[in-house]
Amino acid sequence: MNLHALLVATLSLALCAPAHAADKAPVNAGPYVPSPSSVVADMLTLAEVGPKDFVIDLGSGDGRIVLTAAKVFGARGFGVDINEKLVQEANQAAKAQGIADRASFSIQDLFKTDIRKATVLTMYLLPHTVNMLKDKLLTELNPGTRILSHDYSLAGWIPEKHMQMDLEDKVAISGVSTTLIYLYVVPATVAGAWSAKLPEKLSKAPVRLNLKQQITRVSGSARVAGNEVLLEDAKLKGEHFTFKLALGGKTYNFTGAVKGQSIEGSVEGGGAKAAWSAAPIK
Ligand SMILES: C[S@@+](CC[C@H](N)C(=O)[O-])C[C@H]1O[C@@H](n2cnc3c(N)ncnc32)[C@H](O)[C@@H]1O
Repeated sequence: MNLHALLVATLSLALCAPAHAADKAPVNAGPYVPSPSSVVADMLTLAEVGPKDFVIDLGSGDGRIVLTAAKVFGARGFGVDINEKLVQEANQAAKAQGIADRASFSIQDLFKTDIRKATVLTMYLLPHTVNMLKDKLLTELNPGTRILSHDYSLAGWIPEKHMQMDLEDKVAISGVSTTLIYLYVVPATVAGAWSAKLPEKLSKAPVRLNLKQQITRVSGSARVAGNEVLLEDAKLKGEHFTFKLALGGKTYNFTGAVKGQSIEGSVEGGGAKAAWSAAPIK
């Protein structure tokens, strides 16, 4: 049975199951289908995984993603799976490869797993499951955490990078050779009104920034000297926030780091560079 046929079977079973059964058993987020080794290597390379990273694989199967992250990329991490045999196999492999101190696996429901420690989170799950996790990813992961998803995208998120390739060994899994890898970066929260202190040359009075945010997408305006000026090219990558403002016939490039209750950075334009900062208006 290919992955799509399994998806239909899984959904039908879930729909037929009585409500009290769903309370007890973990939701089956996808059948065991290992990511081909080349995809594992491409995923970890795309996210530039390194020794400082802590990788968590949700639904870790035989452990190959966390094992490769530890052995080849020098990272640490863990995987969780509901399949006891696969968890055992993964822990045995970690031991055999001498990396059990950096890669471990446990029998755990991925929906209930504490993922706050991750700097990189990986998943190869069914499309609807990936999207069931969206709120958890946003609330538990720190801004800047990279999320890698094999084949299925997070609806409404703009990927930082993505890769597409054709792999013959995927035909038996998904019915087609097309393979996709999505890399997302968890955004900081910038939505709301901010009071910004700009260089005196741009505004002597504090400037009100009104920012709208839809996950990774940001838009908004700045109220400068009574005029509402639209932010151009606004981009949010983790805590890194950039935009442009056209003021007095010149375009100024703003860069800032969002740290909870403040944004601090620099503004460049007209041959000069100066600091700017902002605090939320409560
Ligand atoms: C497609 S496999 C991916 C395996 C591995 N991540 C890889 O890419 O090679 C999905 C895995 O998720 C596991 N799984 C499904 N539902 C789960 C749940 N609720 N909690 C933990 N693991 C789950 C399955 O047992 C299976 O091993």
